[in-house]
Amino acid sequence: MNLRLAPSLLSADFARLATEIAEVEAAGADLLHLDLMDGHFVPNLTFGPPVVAALARVATIPLDAHLMVTDPDALIPELAAAGVRRTAVHVETCRHLHRTLAGIRETGMEAGVAVNPASSLTLLDEVLADIDFVLIMSVNPGFGGQAFIRSSLAKISRLRQLLGDRDVDISVDGGVDAKTAGPLTAAGATTLIAGSAVFGAPDRARALALLREAALRGNGP
Ligand code: DX5
Ligand code: ZN
Repeated sequence: MNLRLAPSLLSADFARLATEIAEVEAAGADLLHLDLMDGHFVPNLTFGPPVVAALARVATIPLDAHLMVTDPDALIPELAAAGVRRTAVHVETCRHLHRTLAGIRETGMEAGVAVNPASSLTLLDEVLADIDFVLIMSVNPGFGGQAFIRSSLAKISRLRQLLGDRDVDISVDGGVDAKTAGPLTAAGATTLIAGSAVFGAPDRARALALLREAALRGNGP
């Protein structure tokens, strides 16, 4: 299977970001997940495009931006200019989702839609041809280290069916660890985003290896 592991920088030591990035790169991370939060859409505040641009100068793996902000359109050009590979906007924040997705693709970035635990997959029905990935939230967004919401597994299986043979990646974000990784890939997830399970572990290489092993083994929910 085409599995990708994306450590989420939210759980890294913000005083040593370059070192933290180098460490997960050496450990075989495929993507670097960046959580942009504005304190409005979610009750937490992280960093914006200038910090992303600085991270882009040191990172060697592709950057994956997750926009938890009420006005994602305003950030898209700057993220593209910084060299971000793919960007997900929350379906709950976009009044004109089709336009926003087209805007992301026009910059050359891959376009994704993030879906909160309480939001229905039916919201994606009319944009399936306009997305490169879906970001299934398996926690309510805003913080790292929260408990995995188990109903996400059935949601991922439904999404995999809905996508049929479309080349759309299913990414999962929240509570991903060596226990949930197997059921997640068995349900159809292809990119696993993990914050605390990677950056919270003393040995990041071992944490990523355990995640990869569990994900590739898979096991039914
Ligand atoms: C949460 C963020 C996640 C977060 C996941 O809103 O979108 O990317 O870092 O953290 P863990 O893996 O610890 O649940
Ligand atoms: Zn995220």
